[in-house]
Amino acid sequence: MTTRYTVEQLRAAAADAVRAPSLHNTQPWRFRLVDGGIDLAVDPLRRLPATDPSGWGARIACGAALFNLRLALAVAGTPATVRLRPYPGDPDVVARLVPDAPRRPTPAEQSLHGAIGRRFSNRAPFWPDPVPGDARWRLGEAAHAEQCWLELVIGTSAVNALAEIARSAHRVLERDPGYVTERTRWIRSEPSPDGVPTAAGGPRSEPQDLLPQRGFGGRDRAPGRDFEPEPLVAVLGSAGNTAADQVVAGQALQRVLLTATDAGLAVSMLSQPIEVPGAREALRLSLGRFGTPQMVMRIGFGQPGRTTPRRPVDDVLDLPVVPA
Ligand SMILES: Cc1cc2nc3c(=O)[nH]c(=O)nc-3n(C[C@H](O)[C@H](O)[C@H](O)COP(=O)(O)O)c2cc1C
Repeated sequence: MTTRYTVEQLRAAAADAVRAPSLHNTQPWRFRLVDGGIDLAVDPLRRLPATDPSGWGARIACGAALFNLRLALAVAGTPATVRLRPYPGDPDVVARLVPDAPRRPTPAEQSLHGAIGRRFSNRAPFWPDPVPGDARWRLGEAAHAEQCWLELVIGTSAVNALAEIARSAHRVLERDPGYVTERTRWIRSEPSPDGVPTAAGGPRSEPQDLLPQRGFGGRDRAPGRDFEPEPLVAVLGSAGNTAADQVVAGQALQRVLLTATDAGLAVSMLSQPIEVPGAREALRLSLGRFGTPQMVMRIGFGQPGRTTPRRPVDDVLDLPVVPA
């Protein structure tokens, strides 16, 4: 029975954890080995004070990294018991993982784990083909399995209402010079281990676009290369909106994203309507749901694309100092 995680187990699992998505690819996480357990913490040096003043985005990203970490440990035969926000005096630590009884991974864990290295944000137009019913069902189940809900926004008027909320949130954000400076600072036109590569930024937005694209320096598109006319838009939500709820939502987000990847689907995220408090409330009311919207996603069949870079795993590990 494993009672302590080793440096090697942490390094291998963290290499999967860092493939998680994060706002502007800031990768705001650190992994520490403490008394044989793994502490996952928000990296305060990688916060986005203007874009993410409350730390919501950093906790969603850390929750997504936590889901990958759980999967990687389980697939290696050393699953973890997880405690969220384990130290009241240190709120940056979002989770502590200690070894549970070893067991064989389930086929579901293996296929989700296999999707980690293939998942990426696909901001290009999708094919018009509808997402089949069984895949829609699997995405909803993925959110439920992590104590969250996934609302598929169905019908032209519901999608238009959501798009209007998203566009107005986008305009609010773009009027904030601090937000624009941060977004611009994380765009990468040269190879870099973090930030959003211009090649991944999707095409430049155009006035006829239904959903607002965050500008990451993308290229102009050929005439007529519009976005799919009827996108499948989904809203992920959690029961509450405490810091722990946001970590829970991050795990659910990653489970939904990996389930989509495993089903051959592409996803891009839109968080402008989550980041502007009035828009988030309008979104919640328009869905008629209890709880709190935590992410908006566009889901469909995408053109091939590429994963984005990450920092080397040793840059995000804090290992115990071995006495000389
Ligand atoms: C909390 C959060 C909010 C995000 N918001 C947006 C967004 O509004 N627009 C967008 O294009 N991507 C958004 N993303 C996706 C990130 O930009 C993306 O995960 C990051 O650049 C890494 O790229 P990858 O997802 O391809 O690995 C968001 C991701 C997270 C975790």
